Amino acid sequence: MEFSSRIQGFHKLSQSEKIDKIKELCNLTDADVEVLLVKNPALDLFDRMIENNIGVMQVPIGIATNFRIDGKDRLVTMAVEEASVVAAASNAAKIARPHGGFFTSTTGSYMIGQIQVLDVMTPEFASQEILAKKEEILKLANEQDPILVKYGGGAIDLETRIIGSAIGDMLVVHLIVNTLDAMGANAVNTMAEAVAPKIEEITGGTVRLRILSNLADRRIVRARAVFDKELLGGDDVVEGIIEAWAFADADPYRAATHNKGIMNAISAITLATANDWRAIEAGAHAYAARNGYYGSLTTYEITEEGHLAGTIELPLALGTVGGATKIHPTAQVNLKIMGVTGAQDLASIVASVGLAQNLAALRALATEGIQRGHMKLHARNLAAQAGAKGDEIDKVSRKMIEEGKIRMDRAIEILEELRKST
Ligand code: MEV
Repeated sequence: MEFSSRIQGFHKLSQSEKIDKIKELCNLTDADVEVLLVKNPALDLFDRMIENNIGVMQVPIGIATNFRIDGKDRLVTMAVEEASVVAAASNAAKIARPHGGFFTSTTGSYMIGQIQVLDVMTPEFASQEILAKKEEILKLANEQDPILVKYGGGAIDLETRIIGSAIGDMLVVHLIVNTLDAMGANAVNTMAEAVAPKIEEITGGTVRLRILSNLADRRIVRARAVFDKELLGGDDVVEGIIEAWAFADADPYRAATHNKGIMNAISAITLATANDWRAIEAGAHAYAARNGYYGSLTTYEITEEGHLAGTIELPLALGTVGGATKIHPTAQVNLKIMGVTGAQDLASIVASVGLAQNLAALRALATEGIQRGHMKLHARNLAAQAGAKGDEIDKVSRKMIEEGKIRMDRAIEILEELRKST
């Protein structure tokens, strides 16, 4: 039977039932489950990973269900501390299912290494000299990473730019590197450092910075989906979502929050796979401002049948080999659950969930607001903090919601009343 990400009533299962279900569906071993439960916190590994390590910061991992991406069902692992994110993504994925789910494309894994050249008397002339020696420079870059080259990657092109700055014009060389399934920071930085002396020799200038750019606009991922009008709640809701999106695309104050909602999903999967979420965040926000103003990473239109057609486009420098992803046991189990086959496959999942997350936020904002959903979980958290145990948590939180008073003092009072009456 074909794998399905629709798991009826998944959210109603107990935690251990959920784990058993995922174990069965994703062929996890007992050892994989131990890793997820942090019975093996891999302290040695973390001590080697960073300096002065004293422990581990744990963040819950949730499974987003219902995703169908490029004709294949996927369960998505999200590491996030914020309530409602996983539920909202799963819900939006369900709304896209009648129309086939999400469809994606990628431009490939091309990263840019920047080399800053100062004190060049004739930058236009020097640019041409660099470009004329392109093959020689690329060869030098590729000698730094024979394995990447062996698998079909490596430095493939050079570009030069002359940019005005506070200290006058500077020449900037871009080294374009196909990093395949790696995020690529190490490969690109090594190559940029290695070619720097050659560039000084050619230009007669002084090279300063040699570093990867996180504006990875050669590593673009696109995802699209049609969200069903009826499942969304009708024409008014579709209209409301379009209005919410138009607001974001016209106003950077709103766009920042709109894109933050998208990054709720994107950073959560990035973290779950031990990828560099700061790099992903930097790239996404810089890309959102690429036209000279900061706008939305998504677009929405109404189809002829009145459904909502959504798209997302952003750079995603994600790796599945190398770096922390390769050595982090939880990242490996998470990749296994998602059935990831490579960096571009992971990027397709991430972009799709980003679009779903945005749709869910806009739908809530355009209708009942986001607080109702948030407050339910908040009420449960407050009840637990007030000392409620087991089914007391449900009873206390339900009463606070009914009364519309979701506060710590009320949680304590209701718990006292409840215990007195039993
Ligand atoms: C909250 O984490 C994310 C939202 O603010 C996103 C949005 O406003 O679009 C709900």
